[in-house]
Amino acid sequence: MVLSGLKSSVQTDLYDRVIELARRRGFLWNSFEIYGGAAGFYDYGPLGAILKRSVEDLWREFFILREGFSEIESPTIGIEEVFRASGHLSGFSDPIVECIECNEPFRADHLLEGIVNDVDGMSARELEELIRSHDIHCPECSGDLGSVYDFNLMFETTIGPGKGRKGYLRPETAQGMFVDFPRLLRFHRERLPFGAVQIGRSYRNEISPRQGVLRLREFTQAEAEIFIDPADKSEPRFKDVASNELTLCPASLQVAGEEAIQMRLGEAVAEGIIAHESLAYYINLTYEFLRECGIDPERLRFRQHRDDEMAHYAGDCWDAEAYLDRFGWAELVGIADRRDYDLQAHSRVSGMELGVFKEYEKPKRIEVTRIKPLMNYIGPKFKNRAKHIVEALEKLSPEDIDGETVTIEVDGEEISIGREAFSIEKMVEEVRGERIIPHVLEPSFGIDRIIYTILEHSYHEEIVEGEVRRVLKLPERIAPIKVAVLPLLTRDELIRPAKKIEARLKERGIQTIYDDSGTIGRRYRRNDEIGTPYAITIDYTTLEDETVTIRDRTTMKQIRRPIKEIENIVTRLLKREETFNTAFNTDA
Ligand code: GLY
Repeated sequence: MVLSGLKSSVQTDLYDRVIELARRRGFLWNSFEIYGGAAGFYDYGPLGAILKRSVEDLWREFFILREGFSEIESPTIGIEEVFRASGHLSGFSDPIVECIECNEPFRADHLLEGIVNDVDGMSARELEELIRSHDIHCPECSGDLGSVYDFNLMFETTIGPGKGRKGYLRPETAQGMFVDFPRLLRFHRERLPFGAVQIGRSYRNEISPRQGVLRLREFTQAEAEIFIDPADKSEPRFKDVASNELTLCPASLQVAGEEAIQMRLGEAVAEGIIAHESLAYYINLTYEFLRECGIDPERLRFRQHRDDEMAHYAGDCWDAEAYLDRFGWAELVGIADRRDYDLQAHSRVSGMELGVFKEYEKPKRIEVTRIKPLMNYIGPKFKNRAKHIVEALEKLSPEDIDGETVTIEVDGEEISIGREAFSIEKMVEEVRGERIIPHVLEPSFGIDRIIYTILEHSYHEEIVEGEVRRVLKLPERIAPIKVAVLPLLTRDELIRPAKKIEARLKERGIQTIYDDSGTIGRRYRRNDEIGTPYAITIDYTTLEDETVTIRDRTTMKQIRRPIKEIENIVTRLLKREETFNTAFNTDA
């Protein structure tokens, strides 16, 4: 719960308070701070870096360990051909307008928000006309605005010295998986379905990022590309999750101006609200992952993209959106059906056939019409060129023949061949399968937005003994520090056993913090603020009976236990094999 009415609460909003804590405690820092900073860049401090790694490791557990997908790592710089194929060179731009007086750039469509409806998808010229007709001026200095033009969001670079080769910082990690498709297919023994994932940095030269940590120019994505048979978008495991109820905002409801609905996934698929089982399965997996991260399910919904906001590569897309105090609903994850867009595009540009041979369950006998070269005629007539003539004829299909002759090219020479050289015959052939281009489902996670949302949703303020207690109620699994070890006083006789306990916890791989500075109350508050789930305090009773107290961050309850039991108790609590209340009967 967030208290209102406190002095700090009326002065700043929740975003400011979360960011203030994140900065002070070493989660998030403005990049390049000593030089005045730069919009769209954030550093992870020591605790932020551990938190981020924990979230990424949890993601790996979901997608690599449980789903069995393969992780790859490809360059963050891509060559021009990749982005020509992917459509990012031609279609990855935002409309921009600059102030003629102060030169400040703005997103032209954003300037029209709240003034004109449905600006998504409008051309630069249409936006410019609307800016003129509504007499919109520079929000910074009220100066006149210039022309609207499209600004490509990719950072451009040169590979190698001199003129070099043009390259771009990747705007998504996904292209790595598409470009590696032939190798991945072989790795997976040429069978669908399979998934490939990548966690890494992506880059977008956002026009004017004003949403703090929510809109970054360099950010981390965790993306899965799941290659499936387009004729089979069923998912055998869907039945296990079909009864789960989620908050859904289908595009049809948004267009009708209606609210979100609570719906079981099974019903959503049956009613065609979610197009197929595979998509619904990954929507559910996303929901479970975000919940395990500590994101509040009451502030989480899945919103389908309307046609006017769909990315150029997607046929359907559902965003996992979290409610944030300052920004409202914000996209954390996009779950897109990219169909065969990317593999078709890379096939075209690279000239490589990026398909899969799909074997039928039983070979099919099918009637086909073929061109049959007649050797009795071709041999004597064309002599040493006969072989090439036969090959060229065999490559033709019956549709190529619309008269009595056909022209073929042999060794660079065009030759007209008459009907006496071939016949067109119907025959029955046994066919084992066909080449298909897989479709791709893509759950794409914005890790930095997820981290901020975790911080905001886990942030609580409570009044304790007349003071504000700020606490991050982070799940054990992702809290950066798991256990604080605190000698009551800085006395050798207490420090010695405290250090021993800390060393034994570390041997078990548990991330601890040893803290002996300041009063015990202040040390508890410090650890509450960084979300440390448990604190072990060594006091004078410890010296008498070899017991210590364990304090639960969330409830602030404490219980005394023998030192020799501590490692096992903490391990069980951290693995959630037991809760503090059930382990110690503290409700009683
Ligand atoms: N791969 C989806 C995105 O980057 O938005």
